[in-house]
Amino acid sequence: MFKDTALSTNGLSCNSCHTGNAAYNASFAQPYPHPVQMAVDGYAMAQIYLDEMVQLCMVRPMAARPLDWQSQTLADLVAYVGEVQKTFTPNPCAARNPCAARNPCTAKNPCAARNPCAARHPCKAR
Ligand code: HEC
Repeated sequence: MFKDTALSTNGLSCNSCHTGNAAYNASFAQPYPHPVQMAVDGYAMAQIYLDEMVQLCMVRPMAARPLDWQSQTLADLVAYVGEVQKTFTPNPCAARNPCAARNPCTAKNPCAARNPCAARHPCKAR
């Protein structure tokens, strides 16, 4: 269902944007409800639940009507994305401010070499 383009009116599926956890921001790592920029900007919603977030992506990026709240499709998408969330860690490259990268101490950080702040980071001294 995550790959079903029939859910949208613009030829996209959820997977078109979210392949390999693409397009998710750091907020996705937080338990729901939490603020999501798209919901704050578009709907003045201070916080959002996961089912509402799926509906928001249906309406905005998928350019479709919201799913029936009682539908199996919505339940399945919520269950699937909820599983994805459990192992989601924010991509440090996505941070707008390179100094704000969550864990600049990790050797696994692929941005470390490109991070202009890395040299000045206190973790480096260790
Ligand atoms: C055209 C691209 C696009 C499509 C298609 C799309 N999304 Fe998204 N989605 C986004 C973007 C961009 C964000 C990040 C919004 C933000 O952080 O402000 C997002 C965020 C999310 C989040 C995480 C919000 C959080 O808690 O931070 C979930 C869950 C999500 N989408 C589910 C879906 C599902 C399910 C579908 C299919 C029904 C879908 N998306 C289709 C672009 C898309």
